[in-house]
Amino acid sequence: MSRLQAGRRHPVHFTLNGRPCAGEAEPRMLLTDFLRHQAGMTGTHVGCEHGVCGACTIDIDGKPARACLTLAVQIDGSALRTVECLAPAADRLGILQAAFKRNHALQCGFCTAGILMSLDGFLRENPRPDEAAIRDLLTGHLCRCTGYTPIVRAALEAAAEMRGDLSKEKSDA
Ligand code: FES
Ligand code: FES
Repeated sequence: MSRLQAGRRHPVHFTLNGRPCAGEAEPRMLLTDFLRHQAGMTGTHVGCEHGVCGACTIDIDGKPARACLTLAVQIDGSALRTVECLAPAADRLGILQAAFKRNHALQCGFCTAGILMSLDGFLRENPRPDEAAIRDLLTGHLCRCTGYTPIVRAALEAAAEMRGDLSKEKSDA
């Protein structure tokens, strides 16, 4: 059985937004620091660093997870997705991002990456959420700016667009 030694850097292999990646991390290094400082994924934000604010939420092996509660060495062999994967191209927003922009669902944007990643996973498993379900999900995220209402509106609108309901409404009009 391999042992992790404090102060020693250990190899970590994983996929990041669909691409194979490798790095090295000391056993105590947080995944947030690894992503931001070694992988260059600065879209993952760091707020409380103890699992409360949700700003650091990413997708690990298909599930939303707090990167600040995960050690970098734990992701060896995992598939990671960060907020950078939501845009289909450098000059185009993804459905969720565009809905947030339309609905003014962000102000300072500090909370936004984490909320987008939680919603991304949630809407894949719950394509027809109601407002209560979105509000329940948002209890895991702190936003000091928006009052949450525009975030709820954006999430419901994005869900409808993902289901194809919005394009149907436009063609019915
Ligand atoms: S920084 Fe991870 S939950 Fe706040
Ligand atoms: S937009 Fe500022 S904390 Fe949410």
